[in-house]
Amino acid sequence: MTRALPTRFRRLKTSPAIRALVQECVLTPSDLIWPVFVMEGDNQRAPVPSMPGVERLSVDLIVQAAREAEALGIPAICLFPYTDPTLKTQGCEEAWSPDNLSNRATRAIRDAGINVAIMTDVALDPYNINGHDGIVRDGIIVNDESVEALVKMALSQAQAGADILGPSDMMDGRIGAIRSELEAQGFKDTAILSYAAKYASAYYGPFRDAVGASGALTGDKKTYQMNPANADEALRIVARDLDEGADMVMVKPGQPYLDICRAVKDQFGAPTFAYQVSGEYAMIMAAGQQGWVDDEACMVESLIGFKRAGCEGVLTYFAPRVAALLNG
Ligand code: PBG
Repeated sequence: MTRALPTRFRRLKTSPAIRALVQECVLTPSDLIWPVFVMEGDNQRAPVPSMPGVERLSVDLIVQAAREAEALGIPAICLFPYTDPTLKTQGCEEAWSPDNLSNRATRAIRDAGINVAIMTDVALDPYNINGHDGIVRDGIIVNDESVEALVKMALSQAQAGADILGPSDMMDGRIGAIRSELEAQGFKDTAILSYAAKYASAYYGPFRDAVGASGALTGDKKTYQMNPANADEALRIVARDLDEGADMVMVKPGQPYLDICRAVKDQFGAPTFAYQVSGEYAMIMAAGQQGWVDDEACMVESLIGFKRAGCEGVLTYFAPRVAALLNG
């Protein structure tokens, strides 16, 4: 009897060259979508204290950021407005004003002729006096009336020149309603990236500071965002959203839900994105600032995890930093 020769996995780890040769996944700047926060004013920037390294930027500086993204090879940026509290109402009318902050930023980037895709957020929370993603009537987030508002909002974003609409509101039926309105109004090439598997998460805290929604939010979002304990439900929502006309789907947050990314990719084969959310970013940055982890190494490792889990790309606040690193 001959004894089996030992399987030596170390053979393919002996040098950087051999390790590179057998590497399964790669992270490139073209995998990134860069979320940015827009504020009023001219030449204004304001740091977000709970997100070290992240600033809100006025529209003129957002245009510069878009130029930076283009130069770094980042294909898309995603706009989130910091809305003046006086513009927040029960009916959220500012959400579909053609001249709201998000639409002005979209037009400014378009007019500058920058070759970067513009993604916008379809949800009412920046404009809602209650901080909720849908319209609130007698303490209830009302689904169908919210969908009507979201359709108006989505149309105004498409009219401003957005390439990718990102409904992040988790109301039922909004993808189909938005898709039919886009078709009816002649926006046949406006893409929808549905926040399909969006969980009711504690990791959104710093984002709500960044957009000024923390103070406004009454209660929680558990009647529309998903229970973190559910996986099968995520697959059913993804199936529904693709069926209603989503071109791409998202899992959010990212790192605690890598199993969902993999399952969505395997089951549907649709373009799948993860959102490495504000809390994930903040934790890596905070531990790095304490000297407890190497934040740059954790940044790269966390992002390659999304590629390994099957994602085409990832929304991350690290986008410009990691792109600069990858570009050498
Ligand atoms: C709201 C929205 C949220 C995020 C993106 N869009 C927060 C929420 O649902 O309360 C979170 C992003 C992040 O934490 O980075 N429509």
